Amino acid sequence: MKIQGEHYHTIWVDADDPRIIQVIDQRKLPFVFETFAMRSADDAFFAVKEMVVRGAPLIGVTAAYGMYLALRQLQNESWEEDLIGVADYLKSSRPTAVNLAFAVDEMLAFMLANKDDAELIAKVLAKAGELKQQEIEFGDKIGEYGLELIEEIYEKKGSTVNILTHCNAGWLACIDWGTATAPIYKAHLKGIPVHVWVDETRPRNQGARLTAYELGEQGVPHTVIPDNAGGHLMQHDMVDMVIVGSDRTTVTGDVANKIGTYLKALAAHDNNVPFYVALPSSTFDWDMNDGVKDIPIEQRAGDEVAEIEGWHDEQIKTVRLIPEKSSVANYGFDVTPARLVSGLISERGICKADKQSILKLYPEKINR
Ligand code: MRU
Repeated sequence: MKIQGEHYHTIWVDADDPRIIQVIDQRKLPFVFETFAMRSADDAFFAVKEMVVRGAPLIGVTAAYGMYLALRQLQNESWEEDLIGVADYLKSSRPTAVNLAFAVDEMLAFMLANKDDAELIAKVLAKAGELKQQEIEFGDKIGEYGLELIEEIYEKKGSTVNILTHCNAGWLACIDWGTATAPIYKAHLKGIPVHVWVDETRPRNQGARLTAYELGEQGVPHTVIPDNAGGHLMQHDMVDMVIVGSDRTTVTGDVANKIGTYLKALAAHDNNVPFYVALPSSTFDWDMNDGVKDIPIEQRAGDEVAEIEGWHDEQIKTVRLIPEKSSVANYGFDVTPARLVSGLISERGICKADKQSILKLYPEKINR
């Protein structure tokens, strides 16, 4: 997608040195556009843990390149053993997004299956590139299927389609197109009038900082709102549909996403507003049935709640929000039960959030 008119992906191999993987440093957006160079698995771990990169699909692809960088450094006798250790290390960087384990396991299996290949390093780089390209195509297809839903509403309404989204499930969270934003970009490019209500998404404000930024760069009309405003807007028919992303969706349709998503689903249900979840197949947990009980929910540092970052005097500054003596809790994600989800938008089409419908789209996962 475009930034200041130039086309970017969120991650790429350095043009001058294939030993370096570049990413956009999302900790500084929208105030400063900077890249972050990864040269080792440690750099990839840091980039995921400290949220230089974030968003389930991008977390996965970053870890895939982390495995490639590790292989370049592990040119010793016991590299296979060490690599299994690196895989576990990278998977421990953040617990909720299942794309992390998906991508690391794909890379490890490929590496061990080709361990005697003289061109292993080049082939492993290509494999990471394939996972990156796959996420781009997934976003593109999710966009096409989701566009149909927006067109249906537009045909009925005949005026601007108002879409609410939570957190950032845009191209900045993926490689290109995004998931929740992909149908919005497709509609905008097709000339269908859309307007996006952007939840600020406390405590790290991925909506206010990243979603607003990327929609603005593509010229998509949007309004940033406090997280608690969505229910009121729905009660007053100012929201035609909700589209959010996912970090892990069970094979039964329970959806983990940024904290606050569940509350939007409840408000949507109470006001008969369609609530859609856009996700690539790399975000399904095919072995998990009960999301509310079993999906690991990340808890991050309390400072993210106790303080807030902003732009002041030409620099990013952090200020304290709460009294020194107050304790804080910082749950990063919650789970929306399948019963509150109107439909799942994946690269293979739109389906109901239940096991039978999901496996109908992915029959190869039935007896896995
Ligand atoms: O903590 P983050 O910023 O990684 O959380 C991101 C989200 O919750 C996204 O909605 C999700 O990863 C989907 S990204 C396509």
